[in-house]
Amino acid sequence: MGKFVINGGRTLSGKVKIGGAKNSALKLIAASILSDGKITLRNVPGIEDVNIMIEVLKTLGAGVDADPENKIIEINPENINNYEAPYELVRKMRASILVAGPLLSKFGSVKVAIPGGDNIGSRQIDLHLKGFEDMGAKYSIEHGYINCRVNSNKAGARLYGAMVNLDFPSRGATENIMMAGCLADGQTVINNVAREPEIVDLANFLNSMGADVQRAGTDCIVINGVKNLKGTDYEVMPDSIEAGTFITAAGLCGSGVEIENARWRSLETFYFKLKEIGVNISIIDENNIKVDSPQKAYKPINVSTLPYPGFPTDLQPIITVLLSIVPGVSIVTENVFENRFMYVDELNRMGANIKIDGHHAVIKGVGKLSGAPVRSFDVRAGAAMVLAGLTAEGFTEVSDIYHIQRGYEDFEKKLFSLGADIKKMS
Ligand code: EPU
Repeated sequence: MGKFVINGGRTLSGKVKIGGAKNSALKLIAASILSDGKITLRNVPGIEDVNIMIEVLKTLGAGVDADPENKIIEINPENINNYEAPYELVRKMRASILVAGPLLSKFGSVKVAIPGGDNIGSRQIDLHLKGFEDMGAKYSIEHGYINCRVNSNKAGARLYGAMVNLDFPSRGATENIMMAGCLADGQTVINNVAREPEIVDLANFLNSMGADVQRAGTDCIVINGVKNLKGTDYEVMPDSIEAGTFITAAGLCGSGVEIENARWRSLETFYFKLKEIGVNISIIDENNIKVDSPQKAYKPINVSTLPYPGFPTDLQPIITVLLSIVPGVSIVTENVFENRFMYVDELNRMGANIKIDGHHAVIKGVGKLSGAPVRSFDVRAGAAMVLAGLTAEGFTEVSDIYHIQRGYEDFEKKLFSLGADIKKMS
């Protein structure tokens, strides 16, 4: 399984470069199914989830060549002849269901394992399915799989454009329906959509293949279906959650840390929350952020997670670690996932004083954590445990680090290069 062993209390300094965004790269790989020609993706992060998405595409029959050293992958979707995303892969990574929209749009048929819940929540896919239905698909659920196809007996029949209203601005549903609309007949309008920068990245990628996707980044996306899509060469945007993680690490124990490829505009709410705490964070330019030693004592604050442009749920465990050592009472409210405080018991084992009350965490800042053996529960909670270890007194062992490796490229190497005392052990 592997673990990180951290000797806490070191000061971090120097430069760290943020990699490509996990939550964009996965969708761009899935969206490549829609193309008739070769896709080249650049700045693809070397993480486990990307490897799983590559496996999914290969299972469908796509050719995929990865050049991890240069962070490039080439996808040839020409030979896709299987429309099933199997349980073995979907259970490893629920984002595998993002192949449903492209397969349905291009081939009129998809069979995908139902992902089920995980360590952060129950994670329904009802909104994805409702969108497909609105666009003329019908589905049935059998033996843990969803079989979905265009509801027409005509050979080569496609989905049709429709007005789709999402009850909640789900990112996955927005992405799946947006991709489904690309090769549909006519215009699809999706209301109350997710607005994350990764949604805009996906729309830009689709448009570079010849799609007609408009207004991504607003709460209503309009897609005019086209007959086919061509190959493209595209660079994945930088990962804002990785950037937020390193900014917080620097806020915890840094002195002069420059975070390159951190686009503060993708992180605006987080950025201002850190300033409110008193983190000495400054914008160098659109793509670079600097964190210096604190000028005064940090203050407790309240944080509520919300879909973008609200405070990102993925940075909730990360900011909780910082607040756990800030004297006074902070309240963190989780509004996106019902089960995203599982890591709190681990943090309390390191001396934090956090009580969970429904979807609120009431944090009494303790000034200092102490090293302990702790587990990772998911990718962000795992990274949060590492941050706790960096600031704690003594040794912290973070186990189950495969969760962290799913989403952070070279996490320990990057922290080591900033001066952290962190080792990976098998
Ligand atoms: N939801 C429904 N029905 C649906 C879809 C979603 O009820 O059909 C609910 C979910 O149960 C959840 C909420 O809506 O409570 C948000 O889910 P959403 O669909 O927005 O999330 P997602 O697309 O499954 C992505 C990221 C997550 C990130 C969330 C929220 C990827 C691969 N995953 O998940 O990232 O937390 O959006 O921003 O893009 C991570 O990177 O660690 C991670 C978990």
